Amino acid sequence: MPLLLCCDDEQAPAERLLAALQAQGPQGAGPTEQTAWRLAVIERHRFPDGEWRLRLPPALPADVALYRSLHQPNEKLVELLLAAPAARELGARRLWLVAPYLAYMRQDAAFTPGEVVSQRHVGRWLAAAFDGLVTVDPHLHRVATLAEAVPVGQAHALSAAPLLGALVAQRRPGALLLGPDEESAQWVQQAAAAAGLPAAVCRKVRRGDRDVEVQLPALDVRGRAVVILDDMASTGRTVAQAAAALRAAGATSVDVAVTHALFSGDALAVMQAAGVGAVWSTDSVPHASNAVALAPLLAKALGDLSR
Ligand code: R5P
Repeated sequence: MPLLLCCDDEQAPAERLLAALQAQGPQGAGPTEQTAWRLAVIERHRFPDGEWRLRLPPALPADVALYRSLHQPNEKLVELLLAAPAARELGARRLWLVAPYLAYMRQDAAFTPGEVVSQRHVGRWLAAAFDGLVTVDPHLHRVATLAEAVPVGQAHALSAAPLLGALVAQRRPGALLLGPDEESAQWVQQAAAAAGLPAAVCRKVRRGDRDVEVQLPALDVRGRAVVILDDMASTGRTVAQAAAALRAAGATSVDVAVTHALFSGDALAVMQAAGVGAVWSTDSVPHASNAVALAPLLAKALGDLSR
C-alpha cells in the first residue's frame, strides 16, 4: 500500500492530494493497489540551535511519495536531504518527490564569472535523492526539459496553464491573455489554446530584483479586458510594470493569473497600486488568491508513476 508523506505545515494540500489519489480508478470499484494510498506526517522538532530532528514512520512500504512544495526552499531542501535517505533506510524502494513548486529553476546560467548555476546543483541533489519528480510549470528557460534540469529517472513537468486559461475564460470571457516576458510564451500559448482566448507576449528587461522594464506588444488594448498570465509572481514588479503600461494604454481591466503565488513582501500591494484587479493562482503555494486546485493533476501523474 503506497504512502504519501508530508510535513505538518503542508498537511492540507497533502490531504487534498490523498483524496484525489483515492478517487482514481473505476467508479464503484474498491481500493486497488494504485488507489489505496495512505498519508503520514513527518514529525519535525527544531533544536534551539536551528537544526532539525525529523521522525518518519518506522516501517515504510516499498512505494513512498513525499509532498513538499519548495517555496521558501532553503530549509525545505535540508529536510529533503535528511528525509529521503532515511525513507530508504526505513523500507522505501521507490521514492518520489511531489513538489508542485520547484525552486531554484531560474538560476540556470552563470551571468557573471563564478556565479553558481543553482538549477544544475539543486537538480543533481534532488536526482540523487529521489527516483521520480512531479512538479508544475517549472521555470525552464535555457533548458528544454525538466529531465535536463533535474536528471531523475522519472521527471514529470505538469502544466497548470490550461486550467488557468479555463478559469480566465469563465471569469473574463474574451479577455486578452498577456505574458509579461518572452519566457512566459510557453504558458500563455497553452492557456490560450485550451481556452480559445487571444494571446500576446511582452518584452522585459530586468536590471535588479525589483527593477524591471516591460514593453507591451504592438497591439491596441483600448477598451479590452486583459489578464496577465505567468508561471509565478515573486516581488510583483514584472506584473506591476505590465499592468501600469496596460492601464496607460487604455485597458479597461487588468487581472492576473499565475501558477505559483510566491508574492514576496509587498508584492500584492505593488500590483494593486499598478491597477491590478483580481489575482488568481493555483494552490501550489498556499495563498488567499488560490483559485485552482492542483490535486487531480498531481494525482494522475503520481498514479501513472506508481503503476
Ligand atoms: C521569470 O521570468 C518569471 O517568469 C517571472 O516573470 C518572474 O520571476 C517574476 O518576478 P517578479 O515578480 O519578482 O518580477
